[in-house]
Amino acid sequence: MGSLASHQVSDADFVAAIGVQWQHRPLAPEPGLAALLAQAQLDDGGKATVVQAVGMLVVDECVAHGYHSMDLVVLHPGTPGLDEALERFDKPHTHADDEVRYILEGEGLFGFFDAHGQERVLRVQPGDYLRIPAGVEHRFTLTATRRIKALRLFADTAGWVAQYTQRPAAAMEVPA
Ligand SMILES: [Fe+2]
Repeated sequence: MGSLASHQVSDADFVAAIGVQWQHRPLAPEPGLAALLAQAQLDDGGKATVVQAVGMLVVDECVAHGYHSMDLVVLHPGTPGLDEALERFDKPHTHADDEVRYILEGEGLFGFFDAHGQERVLRVQPGDYLRIPAGVEHRFTLTATRRIKALRLFADTAGWVAQYTQRPAAAMEVPA
């Protein structure tokens, strides 16, 4: 009955209970922006164009939580060192600062752990906005398409490192 009961908690309630803010902020990219987002990789100029256009949609969050820098993370099958990066992201960890992601293209899986160590995996797609407060245990991986673009918001980039919790965890599965 335990696992059945846990599944009766909606994803929204599960993440809310651990303090994660999960919203849908619809994207309506104009054609030029949509074309940039459709590319597998972007040069620095392309990334800056995307950040400038989409940053407007999260200004309220910057003001509310003191995020004063943002960048665009782009992962695709040709990203150098992708497998090594995913091995780091996939291990349960926390940060001393918030982890904030606004998904613009592609998709990924975030795993969140509650106070009992129970994990809930969310599939995030364009328009999903996540604010994972400092100290909340989580992990991340890509889906089979191995492709995502996400805006990252930072209060302090210098202190933003992963603290691994050493929790053993099986591979994340795409939720049904
Ligand atoms: Fe993280």
